Amino acid sequence: MNPGAGTVVARPATPADEELLRAWRNDEQTRRWSRSNAVLAAADHHAWLTRTLADPHRHLWVVEQDEAPVATVRHDRIAPGRYEVSVTVAPEVRGRGWAAPALRTAQCALQRVDPGLSVIEAHIRVEHGASMAVFERSGYRRVGADDNGLVLLELAV
Ligand SMILES: CC(C)(COP(=O)(O)OP(=O)(O)OC[C@H]1O[C@@H](n2cnc3c(N)ncnc32)[C@H](O)[C@@H]1OP(=O)(O)O)[C@@H](O)C(=O)NCCC(=O)NCCS
Repeated sequence: MNPGAGTVVARPATPADEELLRAWRNDEQTRRWSRSNAVLAAADHHAWLTRTLADPHRHLWVVEQDEAPVATVRHDRIAPGRYEVSVTVAPEVRGRGWAAPALRTAQCALQRVDPGLSVIEAHIRVEHGASMAVFERSGYRRVGADDNGLVLLELAV
């Protein structure tokens, strides 16, 4: 599965995505770069997904190519028109250039649910080379550091 070879859409996540999202969340590379590195238990993940799907300020997308899931993108509203983004590409398709199209497709979906979208920010560890490359190639600009010492990048939409 490679970008450009089929129809790519971002759809809202549903309770049926629970196992898929937990597998991606507990993948070793994902844990390595996330704020909490511990393996997430099934019950905790279930509670997180239930809260997430009920939260009007959080949009969780599953990006699919020809209905096969390739990535998940999360947008958290932090102020009117301003969102924080995070992306996880399916472990089995990493390194094939999926992150940028996944971000772009989810951004279009977000814009449809919030036409007032104006800024998307990302908080990335400077040593996470692949992630920095993806966001900078997607047009995000470094604007400084956040309170935790992560690089703060912004995209003006
Ligand atoms: C980070 C992640 C999103 C990247 O997605 P991906 O689809 O595998 O990435 P790509 O195939 O588009 O490659 C990304 C870029 O990083 C580069 N890259 C890969 N490893 C790198 C490294 N160690 N250092 C620097 N650049 C690196 C690639 O060459 C590519 O750049 P290019 O297109 O300019 O050549 C994906 O690996 C992932 O989901 N990881 C786990 C979760 C995570 O870390 N999310 C990010 C936190 S927001």
